[in-house]
Parts: sequence; C-alpha cells; structure tokens
Amino acid sequence: MSLSSPKPIIILGIESSCDETSAAILQDCKVLANLIAGQKIHELYGGVVPELASRAHQKNIVPVVDQALKLSGIKKEEIDAIAFTRGPGLIGSLLVGSSFAKAMALSLNIPLIEVNHMQAHVLAHFINTGENEVPKFPFLCLTVSGGHTQIVLVKGYMDMEVIGNTIDDAAGEAFDKAAKILGLPYPGGPLIDKYAQLGDFKVFQFSEPKIQGLNFSFSGLKTSILYFVRDRIKEDKNFIENNLKNLCASIQHTIVKILIDKITQASILTGIKEIAIAGGVSANSGLRNKLTQTGLEKGWKTYIPHFEYCTDNAAMIAINGYYKYLKGDFSNQKVEANARYESIKQKQNGTI
Ligand code: KG4
Ligand code: ZN
Repeated sequence: MSLSSPKPIIILGIESSCDETSAAILQDCKVLANLIAGQKIHELYGGVVPELASRAHQKNIVPVVDQALKLSGIKKEEIDAIAFTRGPGLIGSLLVGSSFAKAMALSLNIPLIEVNHMQAHVLAHFINTGENEVPKFPFLCLTVSGGHTQIVLVKGYMDMEVIGNTIDDAAGEAFDKAAKILGLPYPGGPLIDKYAQLGDFKVFQFSEPKIQGLNFSFSGLKTSILYFVRDRIKEDKNFIENNLKNLCASIQHTIVKILIDKITQASILTGIKEIAIAGGVSANSGLRNKLTQTGLEKGWKTYIPHFEYCTDNAAMIAINGYYKYLKGDFSNQKVEANARYESIKQKQNGTI
C-alpha cells in the first residue's frame, strides 16, 4: 500500500463576467497565482460600458492566462480542468471567457467546468490562505456585489438557497450611485469607504426602507440622497466639498445598517449563527467592522474573506471548479455563456 498522498488537482479558473479579466491557478484549495487585469477605460464614462468591456477582455485574456501560468510555475499540460464563469454577468464579457475556456479545454483534452459567479463568491471562503478558518455548514452568507445582494443559506458546497434578495438596486450599486451623486469617479464604493473613515455618520441621517421579510431595497435611499444633496446645494454651492467625509460616513452607515439588520433577521429565523459575507462590498471596512461587532454581541461565528477574494477574481471560480471536479460535474462543449444564469435556488420569502 502506498503512503504517498494523492496527486493534487490543478485547476485553471477564468473570470470575465464584468470588467475584470482574471485567471488563477489553484492546487487543490491553495492559490498558486491569481491575476486580475482591471479596465480603467470605464472611469471616463461613470460606469461599465459593455462593448468596451468585451473588447478589453479580448485584449487581456491571453496575456493574463499566460502570466498566471508563468507565476504559478505550472505547465499547461499539468492542468487537470478549466473552470470558467458561465454567468450571471454581461453577455459580451462572458462570451470572451467562456469561448477561451472551451477552446483551451478542447485543445488540452481536459474537462471543462461551468461556474455560477454568485456561488463562487460564497465558495471564496474555502480558499486556503494558510490563516483562515472555513465556515461550517449550514451557514448564512450575505453576498453583496455590484449586481447582487443576497442572503444565501449554504448547506453544502453545491447546496445553496437564496432566502433574501434585492427587489431593485444591489448594495454595490447603491454605493456607486451615491458616489456618482457626490461627483466621485466609478467605481465609487471604495472611495465612499475611504472618506467615510474620516467622517462622522451622525451628522446626516438617511431613512431606511421598510421591506418585509429578508428582501432588500436600495433605490429609495439613492433618491433621498439625490434630493437631499440637490436641496442643500441650493443653499451652499460647495455643500458636497464642505461635507464630503460626513456625507460618505452617513451613506455608508445607512447601507451597512440595512445589510446587518437583514442578516440578523435571517439568523433569528433560521437559528444559524455561522455568518459569512462575500462579494465586492464585503471589502467595505464599515461592513467588516459592523459584522465583527454584531457577531460578538450575538454570539455568531463570523467569516470575512481576504480582501483579494472579495471583489471579482478567478481564484473563487477555480475553487468552485475544484469542488465540481471532485464530484465529476463537468460541462460539455455545447455549454453557452448565460447573462442571467441562476444555479442557486430561490426560496419564496417567508417560507423558511
Ligand atoms: O463582486 P464585485 O467585484 O463585482 C460584481 O460581481 O458586481 O463587486 C463590485 C462592487 C462595486 O459596486 C464596488 O463599488 C463595490 O463592489 N465595492 C465596494 C468596496 N469595494 C468594492 N463598496 C463599498 N466599499 C468598498 N470598499
Ligand atoms: Zn462579483
């Protein structure tokens, strides 16, 4: 009987759902390389321009994959499978990553694995950073990004259920739209975070939406910020410049409060005290601090992803691919990019 451990599994992950072209190489749950090419071009337009995003992905995909392989020290013949984002996302962007992944898997004669971007954000918690503890099933994950705001009941790697959802804007969108009102460039979420740390959230108050159950709404908040700022500018044309830090602190405080109140409600309803956050907005310092603080008060075990794995990245696609690989859950060459791909089940609100 051999005592040697089984050969580690090498997965190439490819992410191209929005405006980041990313490639990662994972050896089992460990990241050997995770490269991300951002697209500064969108700053000029105050938001992602889909056609420009697809063109930039086309330019970036080969060099990013090539660099990831070089950095990891892995030869392409050593890759066991290729995982790619099938959706949800921008169709033109998804097509670049999916076509590339299909062609490369075909040429190397290795399995192809489709991944749901939102499921991957959740599974980013299972990337082995050498210092992280992983959540225990079942846990709740508040997945907050530029396109989604979900409370996910996670019963297993592939067994997830959305139990709360936004009925309009996503939390990241709320950050970005508020930042736009304040004249900050896209994406404004990280800038609001930066200024909020220097401001006092008690100076301005914005009302919170009254939405039943575990669903969210952010469009009313955006409108109230817009009208509030517009009215104040009538009295003082430098109102934003003079109050930027306090405005950012109040906006961030309101968004974080909405999110934490709902995850608290979800914890009470399900009785689950293993609580995680994921997605781009989980990089927000206010949300990270408030989750930790609330967790201590309520006796939760909280899980906050490493910064690198909060915003879009291919390491999360590769880890999702790894768990599908273990199950032999492969796709065939007919698989198509799907902008509205929803592989996570949706539960009707109030039926927990
Ligand atoms: O997950 P992600 O990279 O892309 C999507 O799947 O949408 O999330 C991007 C979103 C953007 O709205 C961005 O403004 C927001 O995450 N974001 C933040 C922070 N970092 C990224 N929002 C608030 N504070 C941050 N530090
Ligand atoms: Zn994302």
